[in-house]
Amino acid sequence: MLTANRARLDGEIATLAAISEAAAPAVTRIVFSACDLRARAYFKELAHSAGLALREDAVGNTFARWPGSEPGLSAVATGSHIDAIPNAGAYDGTVGVLGGIEAIRALQADGFVPRRAIELILFTSEEPTRFGIGCLGSRLMSGSLDASSGSRLRDQAGSTLDEVRSAAGFTGPLETVRMAAGAYSAFVELHIEQGPLLEREEIPIGIVTAIAAPASLRITIDGEGGHAGAVLMPQRHDAFLAAAEIALAAEAAAKATGAIDTVATAGVCEVFPGAVNSIPSRASLMLDIRDIDGMRRDSVLRSVDASIAGIAARRGVRIATELINADDPASCGPAAIEALREAALSRNLLHREMVSRAYHDSLFMARIAPVAMLFIPCRGGYSHRPDEFASSQHIAQGVEVLAEALRRLSSA
Ligand code: GLV
Ligand code: MN
Ligand code: MN
Repeated sequence: MLTANRARLDGEIATLAAISEAAAPAVTRIVFSACDLRARAYFKELAHSAGLALREDAVGNTFARWPGSEPGLSAVATGSHIDAIPNAGAYDGTVGVLGGIEAIRALQADGFVPRRAIELILFTSEEPTRFGIGCLGSRLMSGSLDASSGSRLRDQAGSTLDEVRSAAGFTGPLETVRMAAGAYSAFVELHIEQGPLLEREEIPIGIVTAIAAPASLRITIDGEGGHAGAVLMPQRHDAFLAAAEIALAAEAAAKATGAIDTVATAGVCEVFPGAVNSIPSRASLMLDIRDIDGMRRDSVLRSVDASIAGIAARRGVRIATELINADDPASCGPAAIEALREAALSRNLLHREMVSRAYHDSLFMARIAPVAMLFIPCRGGYSHRPDEFASSQHIAQGVEVLAEALRRLSSA
């Protein structure tokens, strides 16, 4: 019988959470920061102790492999990320990485011998915090982001991805990160739901059938600065007020689709020069727009574009828009979904199908392999905040279902 060692896994999740740039209970772990590198070292130590063979690619995606009895067959993969956005919690991504190690250890303890290799992947920068684009590692791996565009990415300090990754010890051409379609026979990711449905319905296992389509935009507004007392209202070209109108226009456009699945967020707004008695001369805004229907998401992007043109003309400001990404939604693979369903049934666990409104590395792995995702409940559906929480029991159930699914997929 496959059994996750709850105490060990809880302890490892707590140890990883303590490697953070923010004080507990908040977790902040930005890609290639000192904390990220320490967290990666901890992961590698655990993977090494589990007898897994380690490999890192040029962008820091890290692969821990349990060889199969038939080395000619493509491997089955699992994994997630350990980077965390500012002021996040301890479970987003980490449950899929540390839970992946625990699933492998449970299979080993059960005496299982995989036919296909099982590979656990720690993906680089699932979160967009540093380079503005999410799922950097899996985008490059799947060819959804080409190496030359990847090399041109810069962080807020102006350093290029190439500079930052080599300082972190990841060198070599970015082209080598790309993997061929078929390199994996299946990819399965364990993750907290980041929404309230499983908890509300008291269902321990969610089986994801599709992942929503995310898009993000960087918008820079150049207006005219000046003295907050002296410049009268009719003469102003306030860059921040234009940004505020754009954020409201995005909200209105998302609501106007009439679909509950359309969402828009303005999560970053920087104002220059940032003095209380100075009219903002420049503002930079980032928008995140998503839907489970890619065409409807695109209609929101068009509507925001049209609003921007009107706002620029009315306010006498210059607005530049850069579309950072507009990804298609992904469908999960029927055989991988079936493996999860059978795994949940074999453990007598209630489960339901659902879509993932958050994006995950699975969205990009779906371009090169059949994927499936397994969600576990998290308290209140909270995520991307310090009080994010998943119970030890739910995590263990998720790990055991993952292990059972890996057993089936690696035997196929
Ligand atoms: C992933 O972190 C997302 O923003 O969906
Ligand atoms: Mn996240
Ligand atoms: Mn995540």
